[in-house]
Amino acid sequence: MSGGTVAPPVRATVLILDFGSQYSQLIARRVREANVYCELVNGTTPWAELEARHPAALILSGGPASVYEPGAPQIDPAALRAGIPVLGICYGMQLIAHHLGGEVAPGTHREYGPAVLEVTSSEGIFAGLPAEIPVWMSHGDNIPRLPPGFRGLGASANSPYAAFTSDAGILGIQFHPEVVHTPHGREILRNFLYRVAGLTPSWTAGSYIAEAVETIRTTVGGGRVLCALSGGVDSAVAATLVHRAIGDQLTCVFVNNGLLRKEEAQRVLDVMHGHLDMNIRFVDATDRFLRELRGVVDPEEKRRRVGKVFIDVFEAESKALGDIDFLAQGTLYPDVIESTAPDTVASAVKIKTHHNVGGLPPGLRFKLIEPLRYLFKDEVRAVGAELGMPEDMVWRQPFPGPGLAIRCLGEVTPERLEILRNADWIVVDEIKKNGLYRQVWQSFAVLTPLQTVGVMGDFRTYANVVAIRVVTSDDAMTADWARVPYDVLAKISNRIVNEVAGVNRVVLDITSKPPGTIEWE
Ligand code: XMP
Repeated sequence: MSGGTVAPPVRATVLILDFGSQYSQLIARRVREANVYCELVNGTTPWAELEARHPAALILSGGPASVYEPGAPQIDPAALRAGIPVLGICYGMQLIAHHLGGEVAPGTHREYGPAVLEVTSSEGIFAGLPAEIPVWMSHGDNIPRLPPGFRGLGASANSPYAAFTSDAGILGIQFHPEVVHTPHGREILRNFLYRVAGLTPSWTAGSYIAEAVETIRTTVGGGRVLCALSGGVDSAVAATLVHRAIGDQLTCVFVNNGLLRKEEAQRVLDVMHGHLDMNIRFVDATDRFLRELRGVVDPEEKRRRVGKVFIDVFEAESKALGDIDFLAQGTLYPDVIESTAPDTVASAVKIKTHHNVGGLPPGLRFKLIEPLRYLFKDEVRAVGAELGMPEDMVWRQPFPGPGLAIRCLGEVTPERLEILRNADWIVVDEIKKNGLYRQVWQSFAVLTPLQTVGVMGDFRTYANVVAIRVVTSDDAMTADWARVPYDVLAKISNRIVNEVAGVNRVVLDITSKPPGTIEWE
């Protein structure tokens, strides 16, 4: 695939230098929530490279290393002398001390968890905040001596300098403002961005759309763009954004693989074609997908086959459309920044989130447009809402590429899919009716390969067992089973056994991830 992506236009950008903290992405999300644009970069990037991106400010993340150990990831010291505002968090603060002539040493007491910060100077990042602030600490090293020209802003029981500043706008804090356990963390970051760095909260869904539309127009010119719709939020918002920019130069292909939820295919068509007036090629390839899945019970084999048929069908469709120059994809920022941590840091965040089924292979003849490449999921939803997309589209829960194939345990047949679809519809319907749909990450039914005995009226039954899976999560890396009220569960169970022929028992999955996974296959 030739790499022409849509680069974000020039705007005030904060660079977050990642030194391997598990919270680096969280810092980025907090900065974006403050309506300031930021990007994550490897913390050891040479200053010349950083400078070329004209950062308005730098934030140095935490990290697991000790700054004085051999091999610890270091900042290019030129970045600290460049005259732009810098905020060092935890390890980032220690880097500042280490490079500007202070002292960093192992503390006599490690500080992990909640602590209280005594603010000694309520200026700058602490403006408008109380004199005592609950904060979240996670460090073993301390700063017994400040660099020349620095002064303390606050102390904790085990850190004489838990916050410091220079007159040149270089600040350090020993605690983590990005985590929820630091209740004033958002205000501290906002103070840094607005008061210290002088930035304005101008990064909004509206401003993003205006810039992205311009960039897409310039990139595409008179060319034609193709987009594969999946029914999910990301591809739908990407397509709508591209459509806003270039109208009928965009054609979308929507493949019904027969593995979608009830009424899903029709809903996508109604919204994207009916409501938003896009050119859509609708391909019903249900028979082909189900033929390929016949007799297959192994989950990975199901994924492989669904992925392969999708690519075949999509390629055939795109060829039939004639000359196409660009392919638009709904890639998001977390997929792009799989890891910005320095290689020397064994980082827990390198685990891959996506199985990438339903993705397209390299080597297609198109140039790539990724208009959501710099956005987090919540920002994609905000952009979708701003573009006038219906709420149920914008707030759709994630749905796996192989769809119901991996929720229909055992063989995937039209009859079993029908049972699953009807049960799944009831789960989602009740979750929505009870106002839980947005609160949970995913809610769905699983058709197990089990049959159990039951009794209905005067008859003995021997029928399928359906499982209910409802989870809360932030990013699908970890998840917990949602504490859905008993009354709602009772209603779901009662409706499924009464309304779905072929089911006589409903069970609830109460496994967290880890050790379980969200899906059953
Ligand atoms: P697990 O089951 O691994 O799922 O806890 C994590 C998240 O990924 C989704 N998922 C998939 N998405 N193709 C996808 O596009 C897949 O093969 C796939 N498998 C799981 C799952 O729905 C959850 O949100």
